[in-house]
Amino acid sequence: MTTWESLYARRASRMRASEIRELLKLLDQPDVINFAGGIPDQALFPAEAFKAAYQEILAGPDAGRALQYGMSEGSARLRNWIVNHMRRLGVECGPENILVTSGSQQGLDYIGKLFLTEGDTALVQWPTYLGALQAFNAYEPGYDRLDPGANRPAEDYAAIAREKGGRIKFAYLSPDFANPTGLTVDLAERQRLLALAGELSCAVIEDSPYEALRYDGEPLPPMLALDCEASGGINNARTLYCGSFSKSLSPGLRLGWICASADVISRLVLIKQASDLNSPVLNQEAMARVAENVFEAHTAKTNAVYKSRRDAMLAALERHMPAGVSWTRPEGGMFIWMTLPKGMDAATLLETSIETARVAFVPGRAFHPDGTGANTLRLSFSCNDYQKIEEGISRLGRLITETVTSKL
Ligand SMILES: Cc1ncc(COP(=O)(O)O)c(C=O)c1O
Repeated sequence: MTTWESLYARRASRMRASEIRELLKLLDQPDVINFAGGIPDQALFPAEAFKAAYQEILAGPDAGRALQYGMSEGSARLRNWIVNHMRRLGVECGPENILVTSGSQQGLDYIGKLFLTEGDTALVQWPTYLGALQAFNAYEPGYDRLDPGANRPAEDYAAIAREKGGRIKFAYLSPDFANPTGLTVDLAERQRLLALAGELSCAVIEDSPYEALRYDGEPLPPMLALDCEASGGINNARTLYCGSFSKSLSPGLRLGWICASADVISRLVLIKQASDLNSPVLNQEAMARVAENVFEAHTAKTNAVYKSRRDAMLAALERHMPAGVSWTRPEGGMFIWMTLPKGMDAATLLETSIETARVAFVPGRAFHPDGTGANTLRLSFSCNDYQKIEEGISRLGRLITETVTSKL
């Protein structure tokens, strides 16, 4: 029998199944109230608009082209829509600044591949999006905590990276309604982080799939827009912006994009060619039409639904959580991040919660590259209606209250 472990590359030892993926299996159990999966509500997808778009393409003169191989950069019509979208966000760019990817997840993988050599350091927020860590892990970097509040001098970051045998290649962050915390990085902080990246001469990876899901507060300019303004234009900017259609129109079609300097995009195009040649042309053509026709009206409609679910969860938390438990109050996105009293373990709580309360969430430790965060957890409000949210949070509140009381 083949001993597979001895054949695998070293990078395979850092690949682990995501706790979230395992938990998604719980979606099949109807009596579990699921606050775990960070996915959009499928009842809200613009199915009719997609049906019309696919029909138009496949019944039209360009059906053959839509079923053919396509350009690695992405189809022209979709890239044009993305260019206009980025301009609306304050980023002056052209099609040469856009690479269409199969979801922003693929963008993160390609960015890891382009920038990280073994021993290099990636600065990441703590906690951070688990999928980014999984994508970067394959390229064997070290991590250091991008800690805006801590006022660490650039030299401190650089010295730690040197000790690990490489240098800091990029700072990765999700400034809008982050996964998992739901928090937004304010304008002053965005400026400070760009200044830090300047001192470190590293790139900034701005991962912003939730950007369009703002429910209140004023929109903030993307870090890429601030960078373009300060550096004199996108081709001088150090920021790579990762966007996605997954949270606004459909995750199943697997379409996202990277917007960055033309130089970086041309390198990423080579990686895309070697990886999968191109993202499916038919899906890109359909997405372009649907985005042109319904993006704004559709996101306004779905944002109203998500806002009411966020409000329902925040109100239920106020009602049902015992003293000593705290949580974030996000202005958008899909997540609320909860901190339990010190000494409590969210992974242990999850086991009991599934057995008795029948409520699922994601324990927070997996989002911390250093294995801390045992007393934190992520709740997603995107897929449950008011009744489920009220019932689920009330059951969870009871369980946490019992657990806290039993420890006294
Ligand atoms: C912060 C963040 N980045 C990237 C992704 C990947 O999204 P997709 O590949 O569907 O665009 C997700 C998905 O949950 C996410 O939360």
